[in-house]
Amino acid sequence: MKVTVVGAGAVGASCAEYIAIKNFASEVVLLDIKEGYAEGKAMDLMQTASLNGFDTEITGTTGDYSKTANSDIAVITSGIPRKPGMTREELIGINAGIVKTVASSLLEHSPNVILIVVSNPMDTMTYLVHKTTNLPKNKIIGMGGALDSARFKYRLAEALGAPISDIDGMVIGGHSDTGMVPLASHAARNSVKVSEFLSEDRLKQVVEDTKVGGATLTKLLGTSAWYAPGAAVSSLVQAIACDQNKMFPCSTLLEGEYGLDDICIGVPVLLGKNGIESIVEIDLSDAEKSKMQESAVGVRNTNGLLEL
Ligand code: 2OP
Repeated sequence: MKVTVVGAGAVGASCAEYIAIKNFASEVVLLDIKEGYAEGKAMDLMQTASLNGFDTEITGTTGDYSKTANSDIAVITSGIPRKPGMTREELIGINAGIVKTVASSLLEHSPNVILIVVSNPMDTMTYLVHKTTNLPKNKIIGMGGALDSARFKYRLAEALGAPISDIDGMVIGGHSDTGMVPLASHAARNSVKVSEFLSEDRLKQVVEDTKVGGATLTKLLGTSAWYAPGAAVSSLVQAIACDQNKMFPCSTLLEGEYGLDDICIGVPVLLGKNGIESIVEIDLSDAEKSKMQESAVGVRNTNGLLEL
């Protein structure tokens, strides 16, 4: 199993690190345009192998896509991250050109690759990859919901004073401060709905804190987060590599599901060896349905800024 990670910045490197630590891939190639940077990150990570007990071989390359040839899965993290006060949508001008070039360079050397898009604004970048490549829809996956759901569970555990392993919850919709739809009515602690334990106001606060999860970290760190994004990507890569048939909310092209068409947005999917094996349609409350529609309007507005 060969995995390429494009962009050796904080998210890309953390993603490579988690993939290696989980020890399911034989090879990870890190690619960056900054001279020597990916090579340096790869060497540093390889020097953790004996300490962390993994056998994955991590190599780095400065922009040489031939080194990524025959990748099974490739992760696109390239582009600029947001600075405090910026929305993800503001990154579109620079990141659209980068993501388009990266996707076509990857496909030149790995025509059967499964692509995971992380660069922001992620739902629009995922849509861009659909519009500019010939890859079938199951092979284009946007990573946002897995991360947002992890942040939702963190906030739920905090509110409940419970261990995170007790918590189940999912965030669908667009990967943006206003577009996320945390499914509070479905969230549970060991099968008991969290609404049994939390007041309506406290639950509303959890939802709001979840939606600005990325912005909160950007303010604290001065740039966007990397540990949870990297871990979330590694979980998607593992689900595909190990054919787990595992459910994650991911951005995928909808063709009528959830009443939406010609848009990439976060919905629950099953991930296995073919990438997206199927889209899971769950019952949403009327309020959740209308939030999903509003979220789609936001994503479409950003898609409208693409020069296709
Ligand atoms: C985040 O939410 C990077 O979009 C990513 O942290």
